Amino acid sequence: MQKILVTGGCGYIGSHTIVDLLNHGYEVISIDDNSRSSSFSIAGIEQITGKKVKNYLVDLKNFDETQAVFQENTDIAGIIHFAAYKAVGESVSAPVLYYENNLFSLINLLKCVEEFSIPNFVFSSSCTVYGSPDAIPVTELSPIKKAESPYGATKQMGEEMLQDFTKNGGCNTILLRYFNPVGAHPSAAIGELPIGRPQNLVPAITQTAIGKLPKMKVFGNDYDTRDGSCIRDYIHVCDIAHAHTLAIQYLEQEKNKTACDIFNLGTGIGVTVLEAIQSFQEVSGVALNYEIAARRPGDVVAIFANNDAAVTQLGWTIEYNLTDMMKTAWAWELKLKAQEDSAKNN
Ligand code: WQD
Repeated sequence: MQKILVTGGCGYIGSHTIVDLLNHGYEVISIDDNSRSSSFSIAGIEQITGKKVKNYLVDLKNFDETQAVFQENTDIAGIIHFAAYKAVGESVSAPVLYYENNLFSLINLLKCVEEFSIPNFVFSSSCTVYGSPDAIPVTELSPIKKAESPYGATKQMGEEMLQDFTKNGGCNTILLRYFNPVGAHPSAAIGELPIGRPQNLVPAITQTAIGKLPKMKVFGNDYDTRDGSCIRDYIHVCDIAHAHTLAIQYLEQEKNKTACDIFNLGTGIGVTVLEAIQSFQEVSGVALNYEIAARRPGDVVAIFANNDAAVTQLGWTIEYNLTDMMKTAWAWELKLKAQEDSAKNN
């Protein structure tokens, strides 16, 4: 049974990916310092799969502690690297925090890849590297624009570091560029746990609908789109998760065309903010309390993926549609509220 190291395994996409890896016969260990996540996710993973996952509570910026994990696990066949800070707005107000955390973590990991000859490495990247695209849908060959935020810059630099590292035969790597991951595992045992007020659309919708937030804002309806609101490519987190398993299998079977293949992970379908809200209202039966507000600085007007490469080369198929995304996101929010209510009553 191949052992995969998942960094950020207690996080949103990391936890869903661990479930998928376990369901496909892998052994998994996690490194997560829980600075932006909770070991609550590990319990959820075990509830879904019936399998135990060891999480090393280690800060990847600490090289000695990171190296010790590799010394203890000399049979790591691949790494999937999620652990990074990802709040666009926070990265603008605290750029050094983002450069230090996101880049030092990756550098320490690559030192261990070299020292322990780890063969395969999958990197969590983002469509944010495309900036505001000249043409949509974007392909993996679409130009990389100047990052709109330090967060986006760390993703671009991470990609460049890996391209340089693999040029010298460091290992085989895959860059996965996510569009907008949303939704939750159908069991509602794991899902997104935003810290503080949610910045992303779908948790803002579900927290408003459940009453955690009094009202939400639609950041602009005067864009040059079919209904004036921004267009994004929302993709279910379980579809994203499975793409990581396929990426590891692709590398193990040495199907990679280069030492650093790149794949867009999106549905290829653009959805406006107002259409997403409408879909949620139909699924939940809740009339969402929102207002049209000013545009959010840095927002891209429209972006969605050309996902042909992932479909044809990884054998990736999209299993969840927009209704599923909203249904599972809402079920997760209801589950969190039920847990909070029972904690209050006890
Ligand atoms: C989507 C649309 C908002 C909240 C970011 C990162 C990206 C990735 C996903 C990490 C936009 C609108 C949002 C709200 C709104 N992050 N919106 N009201 O900005 O496309 O992508 O998160 O990997 O790298 O850049 O996602 O969900 O924040 O916004 O109107 O309360 O929803 O203006 O048009 P975004 P988002």
